[in-house]
Amino acid sequence: MFRTHTCGALRLSDISKEVILSGWVQRIRDKGSLLWIDLRDRYGITQIFLEEGVSSPELFNEARELGREYVIRVKGTVVERESKNPNLPTGDIELRPASLEVLNGSKTPPFTIEDKSDGGDELRMKYRYLDLRRNPLKENLKLRHKLALETRSYLDSQGFLEIETPYLIKSTPEGARDFVVPSRMNPNEFYALPQSPQTFKQILMVAGYDRYFQVVRCFRDEDLRADRQPEFTQIDCEMAFVTQEEVLNTFEGMARHLFSKVKGIDIGDFERMDYASAMKLYGSDKPDLRFGMAFEELNDLAKNHGFKVFDDAELVVGIKAEGCAEYTRKQLDALTDFVKRPQVGAKGLVYVKINADGSIKSSVDKFYSAEVLQSWADRFDAKAGDLLLMLSGDANPTRKQLNELRLEMGNQLGLRKADVFKPMWVTDFPLLEWDEDSKRYYAMHHPFTSPKPEDIALLEADPGKARANAYDMVINGVEIGGGSVRIHDRDLQRKMFSILGFTDEEAQNQFGFLMNAFEYGAPPHGGIALGFDRLTAMFAGLDSIRDVIAFPKNNSGRDLMIDAPSRIADAQLEELYLSLKPAKADKS
Ligand code: AMO
Repeated sequence: MFRTHTCGALRLSDISKEVILSGWVQRIRDKGSLLWIDLRDRYGITQIFLEEGVSSPELFNEARELGREYVIRVKGTVVERESKNPNLPTGDIELRPASLEVLNGSKTPPFTIEDKSDGGDELRMKYRYLDLRRNPLKENLKLRHKLALETRSYLDSQGFLEIETPYLIKSTPEGARDFVVPSRMNPNEFYALPQSPQTFKQILMVAGYDRYFQVVRCFRDEDLRADRQPEFTQIDCEMAFVTQEEVLNTFEGMARHLFSKVKGIDIGDFERMDYASAMKLYGSDKPDLRFGMAFEELNDLAKNHGFKVFDDAELVVGIKAEGCAEYTRKQLDALTDFVKRPQVGAKGLVYVKINADGSIKSSVDKFYSAEVLQSWADRFDAKAGDLLLMLSGDANPTRKQLNELRLEMGNQLGLRKADVFKPMWVTDFPLLEWDEDSKRYYAMHHPFTSPKPEDIALLEADPGKARANAYDMVINGVEIGGGSVRIHDRDLQRKMFSILGFTDEEAQNQFGFLMNAFEYGAPPHGGIALGFDRLTAMFAGLDSIRDVIAFPKNNSGRDLMIDAPSRIADAQLEELYLSLKPAKADKS
């Protein structure tokens, strides 16, 4: 028998029991006549204690042969500890070993297996199995498991069926590049890995499975960031015979269920904001509502006073940082440098301080009288001690820049707390996005998204103005999920493809299967997909989704542990009718 208990199980009530434990040697402390071993497994740590006169010299010798991460089995008696460790669930007891057996040795690990490891990112990814032994990662994976379980439990209670869809499919247009897989049996033809199961879930609606979900891997060949992996997991859902309102309520209910079951938090009702308001008030389609600092526009109060920068601007817009009038020159210069960084791209920053004595000092005093500056302060409802920060320029870029500044101020003022959750729906996204390079419209969500019925007429007159029945679930400034009510009318779908620049033939070629399905009684339907990795990272209080994925890829899309992607043998290439071309970044 390898164990009677785990390393996290024993308590005072087990005193005097003869037990067997198996696990990894976390640490050995050798004081000559006394020796301690911390034995670790997934469940915790138990202290093994050897004492001269009590433990045999052979046992001491055996213990001294052990190294970090050796796998051992220990037989012994549970005793009460003299000096207890209140930080450890097993901290009241220790094990007096009678025998100790090495089940397997270990090389010295290349980094410490502690909560705070000394290993760099790349090293820890290469030895992911060692990194996964650390508590923080273990807790993240446990959290992920719990979230998946509660997701299934909620959706099951709402009548959803979990149905698997294929991974070897035809390209789905979600806006990223596809990963493709050559087909040996079909020379020169390729499968694509799904960017999402979008078309399949719509076909399941046609098939009558009116509530579908899947916790499913998706693949996108796009530039990677902290919140993007080339393969990631969605909670993918679709419903038939529902309005947008019913979809939103169902998934608001799911988020509430998860927060309540997993975190014990009641997150309350979701705020709703349409896309146009989100852009106007926060310069972002995913505003962080943990703090206010909504934008105020000042064109009417700031233009035509001789300050050319504002006079020439399409938009003068600002935020109020409460209690920041005391900011020093140095702090204000740092904020100016922040907005001028190429990633933000503003030309400069105008500030107005409402001093404690009520006087006003600004960086544009030359151009504006005290009364005019006071009228700005009034627009912001600013009080003594507040600071106004203003940007100007073309409307959309300026709003985006001010969004960056707002988030930076939120960080500086500690307003973006990891344990506060402000969920919201952003609704009524534009249906289409114009791309200047290719001079054509792209679907902002995807081509199956329904325009708002009242905007269908705009598809002829001014497609760029048409809004969609599309929505995002946003929590704390992170896009957790997105979805839409779909087009279920064949003619409207055809029209959509034509606006997107597909000829009838191209549309038939790529999406014929879906349009054919729509000829056989497609019910009205809609759905959503939540990014499961992002959701888990949010629950764990992490910015990067890497730490909630057991085997993630690095920013170049590489798995450093298995060293993928990699070359394949010439014979394999031949079988697949592939030949290699020298690439710019070719390693050999
Ligand atoms: P969308 O493309 O918005 O919608 O994706 C849904 C959610 O998936 C997450 N996500 C990602 N997470 C990690 N890494 C990535 N590379 C990545 N890309 C997306 C985000 C995002 O909100 N088929 C539609 C859904 C629908 O219309 O029902 C879709 O895939 O959290």
